Amino acid sequence: MCGIFAYLNYRVTRTRREIYETLVNGLLRLEYRGYDSAGVAVDGPKKTDTDNNKNTTYIFKTKGKVKALDEELYKKDSLDLDEELNIHFGIAHTRWATHGEPSSVNSHPHRSNKENDFVVVHNGIITNYKELKAYLINKGYEFESETDTEVIPKLTKYVYDNRENDSITFSTLVERVIQQLEGAFALVFKSRHFPSEAVSTRRGSPLLIGVRSEQELTTDNIPIQYNANLKDGVEEKNSHNRPNDSNAINSVGDGQPVEYYFASDASAIIEHTNKVLYLEDNDLAVVTGGKLSIHRLSHEVGENPVRAIQTLQMELQQIMKGNFDAFMQKEIFEQPESVFNTMRGRICFDTNTVILGGLKDHLKEIKRCRRLIVIGCGTSYHAAVATRQILEELTELSVMVELASDFLDRNTPVFRDDVCFFISQSGETADTLMALRYCKGQGALTVGITNTVGSSICRETDCGVHINAGPEIGVASTKAYTSQFVALTMFGLMMSEDRLSLQQRRLEIIEGFRVLPDLIRKVLALDQKIKLIADELYEQKSLLVMGRGFHYATCLEGALKIKEITYMHSEGILAGELKHGPLALIDKDMPVIMIIMRDACYTKCQNALQQVTARSGRPIILCCQDDPEISQMAYHTIELPHTVDCLQGILSVIPLQLLSFHLAVLRGYDVDFPRNLAKSVTVE
Ligand code: AGP
Repeated sequence: MCGIFAYLNYRVTRTRREIYETLVNGLLRLEYRGYDSAGVAVDGPKKTDTDNNKNTTYIFKTKGKVKALDEELYKKDSLDLDEELNIHFGIAHTRWATHGEPSSVNSHPHRSNKENDFVVVHNGIITNYKELKAYLINKGYEFESETDTEVIPKLTKYVYDNRENDSITFSTLVERVIQQLEGAFALVFKSRHFPSEAVSTRRGSPLLIGVRSEQELTTDNIPIQYNANLKDGVEEKNSHNRPNDSNAINSVGDGQPVEYYFASDASAIIEHTNKVLYLEDNDLAVVTGGKLSIHRLSHEVGENPVRAIQTLQMELQQIMKGNFDAFMQKEIFEQPESVFNTMRGRICFDTNTVILGGLKDHLKEIKRCRRLIVIGCGTSYHAAVATRQILEELTELSVMVELASDFLDRNTPVFRDDVCFFISQSGETADTLMALRYCKGQGALTVGITNTVGSSICRETDCGVHINAGPEIGVASTKAYTSQFVALTMFGLMMSEDRLSLQQRRLEIIEGFRVLPDLIRKVLALDQKIKLIADELYEQKSLLVMGRGFHYATCLEGALKIKEITYMHSEGILAGELKHGPLALIDKDMPVIMIIMRDACYTKCQNALQQVTARSGRPIILCCQDDPEISQMAYHTIELPHTVDCLQGILSVIPLQLLSFHLAVLRGYDVDFPRNLAKSVTVE
């Protein structure tokens, strides 16, 4: 995954320094998406009147985090930082390497030639880049990088150099280029042949546009301009679609002073404006003469012919760390509010009813289904494991939980009477998205459980639930997990609304939800006690986490947190499997955490505890308050408030989230940007 940011000011005067700051800050907000190299492309000095000073584009690129780029921009031989530019377009990018190692030459923007005729920033993967690269090399193009992206600006120049006539528009040029591309992309194009014009497009990767204008916007709804009359790559003269047509009613801006912000996600835009427009796949957003218009090559049946400028509810402080040391820590402590927000407007505690608005229209079809298949990756998969048992109980359906990559490897049989859930915080995880497309192709009903508005999974599923957990910036997922857990359990409650035999069970769970935020606060209050345990463990090499039943998922999720931010080996073990091998790992030196709650597995877990202590194990036990039978056998205990068994996993995961955070800090690692990982894995 990478971060795209671009900024166009039209008839709004900004110094070059201000433009740099805007571009760099935009990248800093997106650094969680990728941070091994970064770059910008900006206009050169304002051209003089002589015609030999054609528009120029300058590119600055560095390996390393955005900070390194920032330093590069202000080097002594840089451009005049106080130059005032009232029309300017700059593009920027922060990278998470997929093709080609992290390096300056492999970082974006990529260019068409040494004159920087066309420059592009890209998020995604061009799967046919090798064929395109071979073709272009054969045409005499010389490539500088090892990336897939570089074929895009070079193909753009190739199409431009072979244009039929000079009236080709920038958007038409880009349309012809993207028709040759296969794979996933969000792209922003800049060209010195089309000064102060911007063309952006997406297919499978997110891209949104913020609009900021002192005056009232000319419209909040931009009808699509269909270029079906596009012939030979040139729009017909009489096309009413011409983006710079003076009567182009379907565009924003009538030459008024305006600023546009293009970004991979809203966190890079919100500090400038809350007016945003989400592009759909195959949209082309074009800014010409300060006017924003949206183009599409053809009209797909049933598609929305309008792109609405929405008002973002997100506030800047939501994306800032506040008084926490890391986004992850902030997000762990946000969980009383985030789980409440997941329930808000969906659970009525007065009438004990649960309504998930996004599923209402499909509920009948879902109730007729033969089985549920819940698919995800990493933490999102663990949320599926955590709720499998309660979903089986409340829906009385068989529930398969699947890791998306393995599900695809097996070409798992899927049928029209299956309902497939896709759990994804980012809504962009490639494996999960591919699984979604596979299931759709098999005719199954698809349901998205996501946390990102406008994300690919959110848009491509037939229906879904937004978990409303707020932006999750830390690479290690925490509040998204507990909100996914809540959302899936609420689905089970909705499905069992009319099951008389389940009413008592439902009331018990709804009551558990009502007090859940307060119970989470009580668990968070154990933070300092957990820090002391981390002080004892942080130099260890391994850490086992053991449990079963409703807490097997907790073990998997806890182990994932520990390994991904502390780099310690950690393993979630099903306690019932202890005798089948893992017991060999136990001795007085192997740190082991055991989750033993007062539920149906209590006795079996006590049995496992005896096996561990009989081998001199010194277990740290997560148990319910006031359980002397357990605490007397523990090396350390972390006592949690007791709640209904199927929700206890929301409480038992929090100590493990906190423990992994403290271990990572003690080991001196960057909690929010763990090595080798990115927030969303948009490549398979
Ligand atoms: C979790 O802490 C990891 N960052 C990772 O496993 C993540 O859960 C996984 O990549 C799925 O991401 P998604 O929820 O955005 O699809």
